[in-house]
Amino acid sequence: MLKEKINNVSTEFGEDILNAKNLKQIEDIRIKYLSRNGLVAKLFDELKNVSKEDKPSLGKSLNTLRNEITGKFNSVKSKLESSSKENDNKFDLSLPGTAKIIGSKHLLTQTLDEIKSIFKGMGFSVFEGPELESDYNNFEALNFPADHPARDMQDTYFINQDFVLRTHTSPVQIRVMNKYKPPVRAIMPGRVYRNEAVSSRSYCMFHQVEGLYVDTDVTFAELKGTLVSFARQFYGEDLNYRFRPSFFPFTEPSAEMDITCYLCHGKGCKVCKQTGWLEVLGCGMVDPNVFDYVNYDSDKYTGYAFGMGIERTAMLKYGITDIRVFFENDLRFLKQF
Ligand code: DAH
Repeated sequence: MLKEKINNVSTEFGEDILNAKNLKQIEDIRIKYLSRNGLVAKLFDELKNVSKEDKPSLGKSLNTLRNEITGKFNSVKSKLESSSKENDNKFDLSLPGTAKIIGSKHLLTQTLDEIKSIFKGMGFSVFEGPELESDYNNFEALNFPADHPARDMQDTYFINQDFVLRTHTSPVQIRVMNKYKPPVRAIMPGRVYRNEAVSSRSYCMFHQVEGLYVDTDVTFAELKGTLVSFARQFYGEDLNYRFRPSFFPFTEPSAEMDITCYLCHGKGCKVCKQTGWLEVLGCGMVDPNVFDYVNYDSDKYTGYAFGMGIERTAMLKYGITDIRVFFENDLRFLKQF
């Protein structure tokens, strides 16, 4: 009799649990089978009335029934609970969205983009060369012969006798002239390296933009006109400028361009060391020896070249006093631009 009842409860529970589709139904099942007055408890009550001989085996069957029902019940209940949570999450339109952090261009990239767009507007193309450069392109073909003292100005990291981390973007001039016949008019941005003590004013790695224009009858007046036009577009219409004689092995004559100090407008201050002037770039007319290295006819062609540091340019424009901030990735700095 009791054995039969056990079997019936087991079958009935099997059907009920199959049909349970939500947490309300699962609660009804708990009450029906597992509560204090539930079917399982009632069967245990009936154990009192069975004969001594049948008790052990029926008791065992009852325990098995209770364990099976509890196990199955718990697993179905937890499945229903977790799927109901998923549904809640999926459809809770009142939850705030997950904000995506959108980065921005690094100040050096922004500065370079601006420089590029000004020169593109004046008919310049953009070329790039490798950071690991031959000693030949970095020095030799730019008229720095081996053992020439001018090499001392630009110590770098030597990979071996023949290859260096380039000290400037000027070797890209050689690459461009080896590849194209005149006229060429290009700017050449990129990263460069120097073996220098790191300080607020110099770093072992930085960026430059090189410029080159070669054609018949290119004059120093065109060099000045182009660079002054660039400076006015980049730093501001009202600036004054001056060109000072200088020396670079690959230009003759060579000059450095200064503009009026952005901070004191020429009166003299700490930034311009009381001179009223800030040095912004080096430039000059391409030395005929360089044309010989790239097989350009130096009787027929003339050209000008210039080079400027991008960090330096950004520091001047935005009043930044320590070059190291460009490479520290401190968000307090980066977020300002
Ligand atoms: N390459 C030079 C440097 O790193 C900068 C420079 C000066 C580039 C004069 C030029 C130039 O093209 O004409 O110091």
